[in-house]
Amino acid sequence: VSASPTLPDPAHKGAFVRAMFDRIAPRYDLMNRLLTGGMDQRWRRMLLRWLAISNGDSVLDLATGTGDLAALAARGGARVVGADLALGMLKQAQVREPRQSLAQADGTRLPFRDASVDAVTCGFALRNFTDLPATFAECARVLRPGGRLGVLEVDRPRSRALCALHTVYFDRVVPRIGGWLSDREAYRYLPESTAFLPPFPVLREQLERAGFTTIEKRTCGLGAVQALRAVRRAP
Ligand SMILES: C[S@@+](CC[C@H](N)C(=O)[O-])C[C@H]1O[C@@H](n2cnc3c(N)ncnc32)[C@H](O)[C@@H]1O
Repeated sequence: VSASPTLPDPAHKGAFVRAMFDRIAPRYDLMNRLLTGGMDQRWRRMLLRWLAISNGDSVLDLATGTGDLAALAARGGARVVGADLALGMLKQAQVREPRQSLAQADGTRLPFRDASVDAVTCGFALRNFTDLPATFAECARVLRPGGRLGVLEVDRPRSRALCALHTVYFDRVVPRIGGWLSDREAYRYLPESTAFLPPFPVLREQLERAGFTTIEKRTCGLGAVQALRAVRRAP
């Protein structure tokens, strides 16, 4: 996986990812809106609807970044805490929503009690975790039985024509624009980091092992984005 000069080796991935998000934090939201034409917020709203997040639900937004999902969930009446590894991203989240509860934490060691939340959301972060099975196990631990996990991630369209167009955009255009407006290395890492993303059958197996059931996948953005939903099994 670390054959590319951009991708970190497993021993250095955590520090690499944290430093990268600290660097790009000030322009992170602007770049997301620009590169997706504003669709990213639509995908986040779709995930929250799919999870049926409602008034009074307690939600952990894992890898909250600048807090987009957390802010949308809170607007819907949920009690939300956002957790992230990168302090630079959390600072942006705090500037946007000064009253948002935030914690600096690694996904494999969450500072929350067992069975303490109704839902865990996680947007566009799976590729960045160092230990996906351990992170899913932590999500399962903090969720109450019957609680929902909702994940958004990038994907590759299945149709050949769309996949070809997507490859040009995602692998060539995005790193170019990202290099001009933000950080060259980070936006080269973005398409390359899909090498860290297991295919759905593997994700499903990891989620089952971690304690989840009823695992479903949806695609959106013409197949460029995937959403996963899973339910915490009773122990
Ligand atoms: C692409 S951003 C996504 C931010 C936000 N969820 C969104 O929807 O825009 C990925 C986030 O994952 C965080 N992250 C990466 N590895 C992490 C880890 N091991 N534990 C917690 N957060 C992590 C990064 O700091 C970054 O803020």
